[in-house]
Amino acid sequence: MSTITETKWNSSLYDNKHDFVFKYGEDLVNTLNPQPNERILDVGCGTGHLANTIAQVGAQVVGIDSSLEMITKAKQEYPQIDFRVLSATDFHFDESFDAIFSNATLHWVLDKEAAIDCMYSNLKRSGRLVLEMGGKGNVDGIIVALKNALQKRGLTDKAAQQVWYFPSLSEYTGLLEKRGFRVTYAAHFNRETELKDTDNGIKDWIKMFAVSYLQGIDENIVNEILTEVQDSLYVSHFRNGKWYADYKRLRVVAIKPPTSFK
Ligand code: BEZ
Repeated sequence: MSTITETKWNSSLYDNKHDFVFKYGEDLVNTLNPQPNERILDVGCGTGHLANTIAQVGAQVVGIDSSLEMITKAKQEYPQIDFRVLSATDFHFDESFDAIFSNATLHWVLDKEAAIDCMYSNLKRSGRLVLEMGGKGNVDGIIVALKNALQKRGLTDKAAQQVWYFPSLSEYTGLLEKRGFRVTYAAHFNRETELKDTDNGIKDWIKMFAVSYLQGIDENIVNEILTEVQDSLYVSHFRNGKWYADYKRLRVVAIKPPTSFK
C-alpha cells in the first residue's frame, strides 16, 4: 500500500507554487519599516526571501525556522544572512532584538503562550513585534470540505486533528497583553488568495499545507479525497478560471514597553 508519509516541508513546491506567502509578506515588511543597523529576528523565515528583503536596507537579520529543509535552502540562497534551525517556542539569543517579525508562521504554533514568551524575552525594551498570521475563520471553506471528506470515509481521528491555531483578534492581542506587550495596531481582514495552478489549485494547497490530514492514508483514497474536496469548492472558490483560498489574516503590531509594568 502506498501512503502519504511526508512531513518535511517541500521547499521547492513552496517557492514555485506558493510564493504568494512571501509576496504578500512584502507589505508586512513595509509595516516593519526596518532601519539600517537594526537587529531584526524573522520568526518562521521559511526559505529566507523576506529576511533578505529586510536585510537589504542594511538591517542585521537573523532568520529562524523549525524546518531543516527550509533553512538549508535559505542558507544556499542567501549565504550572507544568519539562518538557524530553531523552534518558535524555544529560542534564546544572548543579544536581544530591536524588532521581531513573523509572517504566516504563528498559526502553526499550537503552544502560542510559549512563542509569545520567547518573542517577548528576546526583544529589547521599546522593541517592536510585527506579525501576520491566519486569523479566526482562516481557510474555513477548504478545511470544512476536507474534514467532511475524511469523516465520510470513517477517518474521524484524522478529521479531528488540530493542525493550526487561528485566533480571533481579541484572543491573540489578549495573550500579547497578558505577557506584557502593548498592542498598538491590530486588524483581522479577508485576503482571498489566488492559487497558482488553474487546474489543481486547491489540491496543491492541501498537498503543501494540509498534508498532516492525509498522512498514512492510501494514495488512491487521498486522490479521491482531493478530487472530491476540490470539486465541492468549485462554486465558492473558483472564479474567472482561477482557484482562490479563503484566507483571513490577523495583523498585529505590539511594543515591549520601555519599563516593566510590574
Ligand atoms: C496561512 O498562511 O494562513 C496558512 C498557510 C498554510 C496553512 C494554513 C494557513
